[in-house]
Amino acid sequence: MSKAIQAIRGMNDLLPEALSLWQRIEQAAETVLTAYGYREIRFPVIEKTELYKRSIGEVTDIVEKEMYTFEDRNGDSLTLRPEGTAGCVRAGVENGLLHNQTQRLWYAGPMFRHERPQKGRYRQFHQIGVEAFGIGTPDIDAELIFVTARLWRLLGIRGLELQINSLGTPAARARYRQVLVEYLRGQHEQLDEDSRRRLDGNPLRVLDSKHPAMQPVIAAAPSLHEHLDEESRRHFEQLCAYLEAANIPYRVNPRLVRGLDYYTRTVFEWVTTDLGAQGTVCAGGRYDGLVELLGGQSTPAAGFALGLERLAELAALQQVAGAERPPQVYVAPLGEGKIAQQGLVLAEQLRDAGLRVELHCGGGSLKSQLKRADRSGARYALLLGESELAVAQVSVKNLRADEPQQLVRMTEVPAFLCARLAGGPVQ
Ligand code: HAM
Repeated sequence: MSKAIQAIRGMNDLLPEALSLWQRIEQAAETVLTAYGYREIRFPVIEKTELYKRSIGEVTDIVEKEMYTFEDRNGDSLTLRPEGTAGCVRAGVENGLLHNQTQRLWYAGPMFRHERPQKGRYRQFHQIGVEAFGIGTPDIDAELIFVTARLWRLLGIRGLELQINSLGTPAARARYRQVLVEYLRGQHEQLDEDSRRRLDGNPLRVLDSKHPAMQPVIAAAPSLHEHLDEESRRHFEQLCAYLEAANIPYRVNPRLVRGLDYYTRTVFEWVTTDLGAQGTVCAGGRYDGLVELLGGQSTPAAGFALGLERLAELAALQQVAGAERPPQVYVAPLGEGKIAQQGLVLAEQLRDAGLRVELHCGGGSLKSQLKRADRSGARYALLLGESELAVAQVSVKNLRADEPQQLVRMTEVPAFLCARLAGGPVQ
């Protein structure tokens, strides 16, 4: 036997059992997003490297050290998408979706970052992303947050804290940056290696450092809030008022800066303490400059992405039920030839009637077939042997209730089962 090939570190198989919870989340997200008028968009998993460099920013962890970048056979530099916003904007500009229009879009799929894998942090992970284009007012910032809050409610997820902040306009941020750099230079001795490096390229990211020694330095740093421009301050206050009107609790976190460069004004994260170090389940904000930066007409925009691995983990911890839909009926043909053939036909007829049906294939004893029927989760087993076939009937066995087995005419089986399985949660 040759040695088995293993998956790439940080890239997980998602097995059917775990996926039922993912499907529940995905279905709930689609329901909520549709209720707010968002429409799905799909775009490639690979784009030109330049797209991510330009949008996420050259001096970010993602672009500096986490991208899966390679040359294709033509020598072009391509990158597996580390996030969805850049691709969504590129697709929107290229297909003329954004100019002079409002667009509410969502997407879902795998993203790739070469991070150090740990619980809640993977190299292939999945996001549901939501982007709203063409609206510069804080009502859309609030709506995006309402979408997420409603999704948590629908799923029954508890204990997520909403943190919000404003990064102001690029001009205000540039002024703050100067003040911050001056302060940090004064603290040079206390800075860890990462922070020293960020000091020149991306000083705001120093505020995001998780290094314990950095915490007092960060706590005493000048606050971005004191340097916000007037318009951004009003925008932020209005957002806070909208959240309060909708009874959505939030905490202003002046240190929330996000790891991507494209944000302007509002940024937010939904955070839990239940998942250990990787507690941000959903994150986003406004990015009014990105469409223009990527070659479109200046268009305000805002959005967020939620991490499905983290949300599913939290949902599992909180015992949110999955979307499991086991077969309702298990057809057990107890023989070969004509019996097996009738089993196939009967299963098709039941599916025509709208039922979920698993057919036992490959033969086997009554005992072994019933064991499988039980494991399948079906409520009814249909037993089809010589004697049943001879009189064009089938034995119906309720696997979930103590009820005598019943002989039903083959032609009447679909109606018989539909009547019994209709209404109520199907077991
Ligand atoms: P992000 O904060 O980089 O933002 O990622 C959003 C979410 O994706 C995180 O909060 C987390 O739940 C999940 N996530 C990120 N990296 C990993 C990882 N390595 N393993 C597991 N989960 C992860 C963005 O990606 C922006 N595009 C969000 C956005 C959309 N902003 C505006 N529109």
